[in-house]
Amino acid sequence: MAKKSKVLPIYVLSGPNLNLLGLREPDIYGRTTLAEIGQMMARRAKNHGLSVVFRQSNHEGELIDWIQEARTKSAGMIINGGAYSHTSLALHDALRALDRPLVEVHLSNPFAREEFRHHSRISPVAKGVIVGFGAQSYVLAVDALASLIKGSTG
Ligand code: DQA
Repeated sequence: MAKKSKVLPIYVLSGPNLNLLGLREPDIYGRTTLAEIGQMMARRAKNHGLSVVFRQSNHEGELIDWIQEARTKSAGMIINGGAYSHTSLALHDALRALDRPLVEVHLSNPFAREEFRHHSRISPVAKGVIVGFGAQSYVLAVDALASLIKGSTG
């Protein structure tokens, strides 16, 4: 009998302060909460036959543990590293070892903001980057990741 292949979920990780979405600087990040983004993504992923593991942490080490977990348990990853995107070598190294398609997202456009946001330590290890579309950045990333996953599985 042919073995039924189980499609692994996509991991969506959000870093520090993104739990405050909707409340924090809404002029920059919008009024959509992270929970609402999670629902939007789950719906979009379902259209692609994918499910989502959606997590947020303010702690660098916890994000790294989840990235390591995703090496075997995910089909691919979408990450908004928040401020750690600009600083964390440890996130860079963990993502380098992910061995799964990776899409980086940001709600705002960091390149249109302060200079310290212009450099990302995640971008060099991501397949692509989606920035500046508010909550929609995350949803667009689902489409991008789904096509990468389909491409890699033929
Ligand atoms: C952010 C951009 C970062 O520069 C900032 O530190 C954040 C949010 C974004 O989604 O626009 O926390 O990642």
